[in-house]
Amino acid sequence: MNSGGAGFSRRAFLGAGAAIGGLALLAPTRAGVARAAAPFEPTREVTLTAGEMELKLLGPDKPATRILAYDCTPFQTLRMPRGTRLKATFVNGIDEGSTLHFHGIRMPNEYDGVPTLTQPLVQPGSRFVHLLPLDDPGTFFFHPHCDETGQAGMGLAGVLIVEDTRDPAFDAEHVLCLKDWRLAPDGSFLPLTEPEGASKAGTFGATRTVNGAAALELKAPAGGHARLRILNIDSTRIMDIGVEGGDAWLIAVDGHALPPVRLDDLPDGIWRMGPAQRIDLDIRMPADGSPVTLGDYRAADIYHFATLTAEGRVSKPRKGPLALPKADLPQPDMKRAARLSFTLQQATGQAVKEIALPADDPLATALIDSLCVGATTYWGIQSESWPTGANRSVPPPLARMTTGTSYVVEIKNETRFPHPVHLHGHAFEVRASSLDRLPRHFADTVLVQPGEAVEIAFVAAPGDWVFHCHILEHMETGMMGWFRIV
Ligand code: C2O
Ligand code: CU
Repeated sequence: MNSGGAGFSRRAFLGAGAAIGGLALLAPTRAGVARAAAPFEPTREVTLTAGEMELKLLGPDKPATRILAYDCTPFQTLRMPRGTRLKATFVNGIDEGSTLHFHGIRMPNEYDGVPTLTQPLVQPGSRFVHLLPLDDPGTFFFHPHCDETGQAGMGLAGVLIVEDTRDPAFDAEHVLCLKDWRLAPDGSFLPLTEPEGASKAGTFGATRTVNGAAALELKAPAGGHARLRILNIDSTRIMDIGVEGGDAWLIAVDGHALPPVRLDDLPDGIWRMGPAQRIDLDIRMPADGSPVTLGDYRAADIYHFATLTAEGRVSKPRKGPLALPKADLPQPDMKRAARLSFTLQQATGQAVKEIALPADDPLATALIDSLCVGATTYWGIQSESWPTGANRSVPPPLARMTTGTSYVVEIKNETRFPHPVHLHGHAFEVRASSLDRLPRHFADTVLVQPGEAVEIAFVAAPGDWVFHCHILEHMETGMMGWFRIV
């Protein structure tokens, strides 16, 4: 592999040693975090092996690309019933260190897959066993948590659907994974990160795909309801998802049900979705059999990624929307909640110096290797309590919190770019936006627009959980911190 930048193999080989050093540096009191091991009887077992494979992304007559995938299945989709105890063994079959992270799943911290903070890096040829209680139904995904611009950028990701027997019966269901690729005409990868992109909106791919194809032709019966699970698994791109030709309702965000919102009632009739965000849509097919199209309307050049064509017709049309059962999640206690505020910042000039360690600092080297992040700092997350001045020590947690306590966290974006901010291990309630553009909903990632302040609330779950932008280059160049919850 040569496309992820110069740090690739150095990280893979130094990762283990650095991780040990990093663990000691980052989590000195880790042993003191007592956590009773809950009895765990797996009801399902899977093995996920990361490896290389070929996929024709440029077209059937064009050269293939060597991508990364789990089990040689691009965006493989696992379906498990709600309540499953999943034992997932990650096997690293690629030639650099990696870990597996189940995005959005509420789980014991030790299975979260964040190198150094929760586990050592999984070296090539090694494995790691995750034990996950799948209590929340919904559309989730999994991906590596090391060199993500490289590994996820080359396709390493899969879908985890936790099914709920209480859901209404849809007449059709489709899973759509949206991802762009940075490809040269010979099918090889262009550099997956460039300073120009990493320090701004990100380094975009020009080959746009859905489930690895340029567009999808899908079927649903005329007059019926189709459930579409749409995942933005791109490293960079923010998409404005819109539907033409039929009625569409937003019925879940990041897997979690919300009272259905008609897409047409949202600003501009679209749902803006950053990397890692997912939505479930209920689409009612026209009774006359005419098609429905789905597109990303963000750029002037609309990307129509799917067409739903009528096949058959339903005998008893239902008006809709078909709402999902109410999300059963810990409800923050707003009266007693503690308040915190964090500001997303672009590091420029003096700020770069304040946030960044000098590149030749041994601590910086250890940190870069053990956390699997880039050597350059363009971004930061600052809290009122973040130490200022030359920040020569490993970042302390952004906040220390207490298990079971409710927190309201304000996320302010003082940069010129939108950032999809993700908190591990929790489902938080998105309560308010200063731009007043969001319905209340539960999520694990929230897009914060330039100049916007978004308020989220959650009940703290025990562990060391990272809090980061999911534009992967932003995360790897500084827009990441962590909460210690004891
Ligand atoms: Cu999709 Cu840190 O995660
Ligand atoms: Cu960002």
